[in-house]
Amino acid sequence: MKKNIVFSLQSNQAVAEKVAKKFNAELGVVSIDNFADGEVLVKSLSDVKGKDVTIIESTAKNAHEILFQLLLLIDSVKRSGARSVKLYVPYFGYSRQERVSWFNEPVSCEVVAKILDTAEVDEILTFDLHHPIIENFFKTPFRSLSTTKLFVDYYKKYFAEHHIDTKDVVIISPDHGSNTRAELLSKEFEGTKKVILDKRRPKPNLAEHLEVNVDEVKDKICIIIDDIIDTGGTLVSAADLLIRSGAKSVLVAASHGVFSPNSLNRLLESPLDDIVVTNTIERRLPKEIHITDISELIEL
Ligand code: R5P
Repeated sequence: MKKNIVFSLQSNQAVAEKVAKKFNAELGVVSIDNFADGEVLVKSLSDVKGKDVTIIESTAKNAHEILFQLLLLIDSVKRSGARSVKLYVPYFGYSRQERVSWFNEPVSCEVVAKILDTAEVDEILTFDLHHPIIENFFKTPFRSLSTTKLFVDYYKKYFAEHHIDTKDVVIISPDHGSNTRAELLSKEFEGTKKVILDKRRPKPNLAEHLEVNVDEVKDKICIIIDDIIDTGGTLVSAADLLIRSGAKSVLVAASHGVFSPNSLNRLLESPLDDIVVTNTIERRLPKEIHITDISELIEL
């Protein structure tokens, strides 16, 4: 009998399948039913008694709906005798509401953390968490894993194929929040410099950048690294600025492709030459958007 069993609800089915295969684990079967009044019933159809359960599910798109389904699935497997439950939330919805930025606002991310704590799983893991403070919101053991390795592998190939010397590459943090991410990537490629851009948000969903020192980016291949692509506003504004400042080309690596409506067109029409995201959020994407796979970073 296999002792490890891997589940997913709706966001990460392909990743769950690959992980199950990699570890020769069972792929769990879940049923999701709706009652006439809209209430939902989620349960495991697989036998989990005495097994180590891993659930992989990003709280993307309908974050609140998925969150509740997750809680029910966890309850189902625990009541059915699972030996342990590990929860991967590859993209952590609500992570950008990690602080109060104006009067009367909730810290929604902390509310989500408190809700997940009630599920009493053994460990919660995510990738490239928006802000490290979020770890403190949890009582459950919590870890954020880095996807830097995936981007390093991607750019090693890209540089070789495009005959790029790393001395001509500048790693760009599109705001102060991505500085550490940019630093990690820059360290992996000898000779690259790192530049942090100054971003302003005059109103929600609108991003603007202040001027950059032209000497740092002129004739360079600029790689912007960010955690999330949502409206695409941050990247398009940064790319416009870099091109205006003389950059030779602008590439993007982002951990989580949220891609809100209209963002894909906006990005594809922008001066960006290459976009790569991970599959923390699974969805069909145009062929111009490249995808790296988080499955290899997941352990049972
Ligand atoms: C902001 O703090 C994040 O790190 C991302 O830069 C931001 O969420 C991207 O959003 P958008 O694509 O809407 O500019």
